[in-house]
Amino acid sequence: FADRKNSFGPNIEIESEWRPFKAQIDTFMGQDTQWRAYPIVGGEKVKTDQTHAIKSPYDHSQAVGDIDWADQTTVAKAIGLAQAAFPAWSARPTSERADCLDKMADLMEENYPELMALCHREAGKTIQDSIDEVREAVDFCRYYAQQARSHFAEPHKYTDFLGQDKRAQWKGHGVFTCISPWNFPLAIFTGQVVAALVVGNTVIAKPAEQTSLIAVRAIELLHQAGVPGNVLHLLPGDGASVGAPLTNDQRIAGLAFTGSTGTAQLINRTLAARNVPPVPVIAETGGQNAMIIDSTSLPEQVVRDAVRSAFASAGQRCSALRVMFVQKDIADRVIPMIKGAMQEQSVGLPYLHSTDVGPVIDQKAQTMLLEHIKHMTKVGKLIAQAELPDLTNKGTFVPPTAFEIDSIDQLTDEKFGPILHVVRYQARDLNTIIDTINQSGFGLTMGVHSRNETTCARIANRARVGNLYINRDQVGAVVGVQPFGGQGLSGTGPKAGGPHYLQRFATEQDL
Ligand code: NAD
Ligand code: ALA
Repeated sequence: FADRKNSFGPNIEIESEWRPFKAQIDTFMGQDTQWRAYPIVGGEKVKTDQTHAIKSPYDHSQAVGDIDWADQTTVAKAIGLAQAAFPAWSARPTSERADCLDKMADLMEENYPELMALCHREAGKTIQDSIDEVREAVDFCRYYAQQARSHFAEPHKYTDFLGQDKRAQWKGHGVFTCISPWNFPLAIFTGQVVAALVVGNTVIAKPAEQTSLIAVRAIELLHQAGVPGNVLHLLPGDGASVGAPLTNDQRIAGLAFTGSTGTAQLINRTLAARNVPPVPVIAETGGQNAMIIDSTSLPEQVVRDAVRSAFASAGQRCSALRVMFVQKDIADRVIPMIKGAMQEQSVGLPYLHSTDVGPVIDQKAQTMLLEHIKHMTKVGKLIAQAELPDLTNKGTFVPPTAFEIDSIDQLTDEKFGPILHVVRYQARDLNTIIDTINQSGFGLTMGVHSRNETTCARIANRARVGNLYINRDQVGAVVGVQPFGGQGLSGTGPKAGGPHYLQRFATEQDL
């Protein structure tokens, strides 16, 4: 990737760079700025009678905007238009479609302040997380544009054993449904959509109901970037009323989903029950991610990386650390240091420089997490809990909390928030520990802290995870550099932001 550079975004450590940038963000932060959004079908806004208010996760008295959800007539119209637009869009040269992605990247950079304000206000993201959100969306566009130009623009040639030349070409499948989660409301949303578009599919995008306003802005920018209105449609709404019909419809030729494992399983069942040929599905789902720390590791580095992996983004990353295994010989050094670092975590308003951990997305998530904390208090041993600000009645905050437990088997499913579980292990049990992690069925990320190369290699060989990180944190995969995706209950692959992703959106056809 010598000729490709990842985007940087503003540097918040350089005052002269950050201050004017922040002033622009602030123009979108007041209550007088609210967004009014609608389904976008055929390039037109569609008003429906299902208007939903979006409130800020850090202050429920603050309206961020209103959005109309798609009704069934709008869903049907969008699928019909997308199907009709497919032949012309797929016949366009790959380079023209790739140009739209590069233009989209430029437009997002031009609109950074507004997109960051939406990340703060609609998704409760901190300053650095909001920058990273836009950066990742920009990176997906530029990386997939480059991949498409390199591998999809020209037919590839084969010569068979009789010396006869053959040519084959990647082509889009048809209408692709893209269903995305709220925790990366711009990056994952945009990444799925542009991957499907650039290889020639037409797209219907369904964003998460919690974060549809930023998705609307992304679609508007994609249209501005040159993607025709009939090729790309946005249908906001919840899973049951909009996601399900978009899965069930016989005309859907492929589906990209990122979200919980349970929803992916439901979607798979729905697709399988359709009386049509099977279609490609890309499902990127949850994790029960572990970090293994042996006695040769450096405790200071472990603590820095574990705290970031578990609590950054309020633990609302599929990659986040959930279960930390510490070798007994070092546990009494590491655990008190984790406790100390957690007491320094500042929970608060996401747009403040001083905040480490912002709110969780909504009341449903907050209630589930607080219940888990209550349950763990009975079955585990509390290590530490960060202080909560005096904002808990205004927004959905959950204190970063760590428990010591006996076994990963005490955890049944992913708890998507700032809760860390710590298990002590004996060196002789390392293989068993890896096997129990594998047996959870998830296989997304794993962190390893060890200065013993043999141990690192042993863990890498035995663990069944998509992304393994050695002597560093385990969140924040970078597009093109750390392709991201899991296996088992964590998803189907191929890895997003990697060289094999676009192929799953396309079919190879002899010419
Ligand atoms: P979710 O499964 O509740 O929702 C995801 C999307 O699916 C939303 O748009 C939702 O409206 C839609 N949906 C819900 N029911 C549906 C149905 N019956 N048919 C079609 N669509 C339906 O997940 P979430 O709470 O939005 O996101 C958090 C989850 O996403 C976590 O489990 C996290 O681990 C996972 N995630 C995974 C990755 C990854 O790359 N592996 C990345 C981000 C998030
Ligand atoms: N790609 C995201 C990360 O690595 C989920 O944290």
